[in-house]
Amino acid sequence: MTTKAIDPTSVPAWQALSEAAVALGGITIRQLIDDEPGRADRTSLSAARVHLDFSRQRVTPAVVADLLQLAEETGVFDRRAQMLDGVHINTTEDRAVLHTALRRPRADSLIVDGVDVTAEVHGVLDRMAGFADAVRSGRWKGATGSPISSVINIGIGGSDLGPAMANLALEAFADTEIAFHFVSNVDPSDINLALRRCDPASTLVIVASKTFTTLETMTNAQAARAWLVAGLGESAVDRHFAALSTNEEAVRAFGIDPQNMFGFWDWVGGRYSMDSAIGLSTMIAVGPDGFSQMLDGFHAMDQHFATSPPEANLPVVMGLLEVWNRNFLGIPTTAVLPYSQYLARFPAYLQQLTMESNGKSVRWDGTPVSYATGGIYWGEPGTNGQHSFYQLLHQGTDPVACDIVVVARSESPHGDQQDMLVANALAQAAVLSRGRTAEEVAADGTPAALVPHKVMPGNRPTSMIMIDRLDPFTLGALIALYEHSVFVQGAVWGIDSFDQWGVELGKKVALGILADLTGHDSHPVDPSTDASIALYRRLR
Ligand code: F6P
Repeated sequence: MTTKAIDPTSVPAWQALSEAAVALGGITIRQLIDDEPGRADRTSLSAARVHLDFSRQRVTPAVVADLLQLAEETGVFDRRAQMLDGVHINTTEDRAVLHTALRRPRADSLIVDGVDVTAEVHGVLDRMAGFADAVRSGRWKGATGSPISSVINIGIGGSDLGPAMANLALEAFADTEIAFHFVSNVDPSDINLALRRCDPASTLVIVASKTFTTLETMTNAQAARAWLVAGLGESAVDRHFAALSTNEEAVRAFGIDPQNMFGFWDWVGGRYSMDSAIGLSTMIAVGPDGFSQMLDGFHAMDQHFATSPPEANLPVVMGLLEVWNRNFLGIPTTAVLPYSQYLARFPAYLQQLTMESNGKSVRWDGTPVSYATGGIYWGEPGTNGQHSFYQLLHQGTDPVACDIVVVARSESPHGDQQDMLVANALAQAAVLSRGRTAEEVAADGTPAALVPHKVMPGNRPTSMIMIDRLDPFTLGALIALYEHSVFVQGAVWGIDSFDQWGVELGKKVALGILADLTGHDSHPVDPSTDASIALYRRLR
């Protein structure tokens, strides 16, 4: 039975925060920093080797206290306990939300719906480790006796973005010569580009799909299968295909040997699945030990989230700051700016995690929201973004909150390049938050006519997230930090962060249009679409 969701605007803390936002008036981040000695000490939190400094957020200590009260009054902590215990908090799909069980230590059993999920998780991890070791060591041979030198992961959304992001993030830890390719788009160029770079005799194709019905993935998987069969014959499929899925029947129907299938469960959401069997390509890259260190990092952040007091709890505070920026300061978007080329795919990964989770307009009981929910997340690594879109961050008319992610130690140091990189990250954080006044610009001797162009408004709420080193452990901890921050936001807003009904209609309509384009069926869609179909027919 669906419990009634709390309307967050009805609780006293929401009212207090609305008044606090008005009282803040024109007080800037610069003033808050300058007027509060020792602020950075009070706004710095650490857990699992991740350090968060929110001194550059536009909050006073009283606002932080009210935000923590908001979490209390909207039931965030009860909902957290329900999630961790396996209650079916994904109500619209009647599912538990248990990605935290994917990283529980072996001895830490958890019984949900009568099943020891920890034992099941470790059963799959053990099988994955055996398979990954065999592939890595060359013991796993292709149909002609060649070891595997290329892995193609075919998946989309959560079955692509997580492993693609992690494999790049951990490339310095990939102690194998195997080349990895990630194919997601139904655009035939995507699969063709990968196939062109591979030799069927030494290629392992991993079909990653929770449902094993996703159009893009199944189409690309069929294309890869046809390529393999054309090169090596039908009997080669067993040695060259593996499947990561919850749908054993569909995997068998596709013709993949169940021995090469690694399963997971309906309580793992696609965008929360990179640490499940979906991470097989990551495990092949960094080895079972590296993968296990990543799970340890996830788990350390999970433990911190589960047990630390709210005011010292990184995901709780980070999630609440997002609520403050979104609902009380009216900031619609957050730029994620990792100062690490290894984290180049991190913003894309976070786009799905944040926006597919919290882009909702009704609460979990179906009642409409009257307040903003999930913000728009996007970004690019620094320093590249500085030479592209930062102009708008600094002087545009839309306020953008920023998460700057800094990795202290480089995995491939070269001269003082790492210091250069970090100097830029710190400089951007200072300028985004503090800006530059007309007086300061004029004092530099800037001609009067240019002064307005050089004024930097600042006041962009900025969080600094720093880790000592990007390794499997910190990557896991960093991702868990965002997962739980997303949870906190969704819990305050009373929404189901774990369904994604909004993506279904487009898929259905596309199938109807496809039938039209391929001449199997023809029926008008709407005047604009019909006109586009006609134009496409003329052009193709
Ligand atoms: O279309 C959205 C979605 O369902 C995502 O939530 C999911 O990660 C992706 O598609 C892929 O789904 P699957 O793993 O079942 O192929």
